[in-house]
Amino acid sequence: MTNKPVISILGGTGAQGSALALRWVNAGYSVVIGSRNAQKAAKACEEISRQVEKANISHDNYAAAADKGEVVVLCVPYASQRETVESVREALEGKILIDATVPLVPPKVARVQLPEGGSAVAAIQAMLGDSVKVVSAFQNVAAHVLSELSSPVECDVLVCGNDVDARETVIKLAGDIGMRAIHAGPIGNSAAAEALTSILISINSRYKVSGAGVRITRLDTDKK
Ligand SMILES: NC(=O)c1ccc[n+]([C@@H]2O[C@H](COP(=O)([O-])OP(=O)(O)OC[C@H]3O[C@@H](n4cnc5c(N)ncnc54)[C@H](OP(=O)(O)O)[C@@H]3O)[C@@H](O)[C@H]2O)c1
Repeated sequence: MTNKPVISILGGTGAQGSALALRWVNAGYSVVIGSRNAQKAAKACEEISRQVEKANISHDNYAAAADKGEVVVLCVPYASQRETVESVREALEGKILIDATVPLVPPKVARVQLPEGGSAVAAIQAMLGDSVKVVSAFQNVAAHVLSELSSPVECDVLVCGNDVDARETVIKLAGDIGMRAIHAGPIGNSAAAEALTSILISINSRYKVSGAGVRITRLDTDKK
């Protein structure tokens, strides 16, 4: 893989996908917005180009975007997670799929309600098999925090996946857009990151803040 792989974001017109696209384009990555609606996607590209000089951004439908990406990112609502992955399955072979899905069940989004089996992202790894390296990340960072390009993103990113090298790649991708990302174990551990989002939503509400995040302590002090 190249030092700066082409990143395709399925759902890149949405809140989380467009914010990640903005950050990666700003960091010099080439990003393809995957969308079901070309007009909407063109608008998302325009918005990013307005904020980033010489933005390397384009758009395509989900299948073509997944095909073009060296790394593919999934940022669609939980209800459409599985069908979206199924629709691009062939294009994912041999690649890293970063899945940011949180299985929220509206209206009680501040309550942890994980799906049967525990993790929405682990279910996608089980569906795809080992030929696709699914990595769970970005569940605990709010879109509006990511989209404020002039402000640093002050939280850690928990990175779960069965393939350590794939996790390492995602840790670098997160680091390049200003976040400390941390190995958080195999894909099944994604359940904890997915659950944590409801806890953060609950904290936002109780403390009247927006975009609360997590920090892992002592990583830099305990080295022997
Ligand atoms: N928002 C956050 O702060 C945040 C934070 C952490 C994680 N997440 C997770 O990131 C994912 C995206 O969240 P979001 O807030 O960005 O969602 P969103 O803005 O509602 O939607 C994202 C995009 O998904 C596509 N989409 C919507 N319905 C679809 C369907 N039925 N089939 C296929 N694609 C569909 C749409 O793109 P097109 O219409 O262009 O195809 C839409 O722009 C979710 O799983 C969420 O849990 C969000």
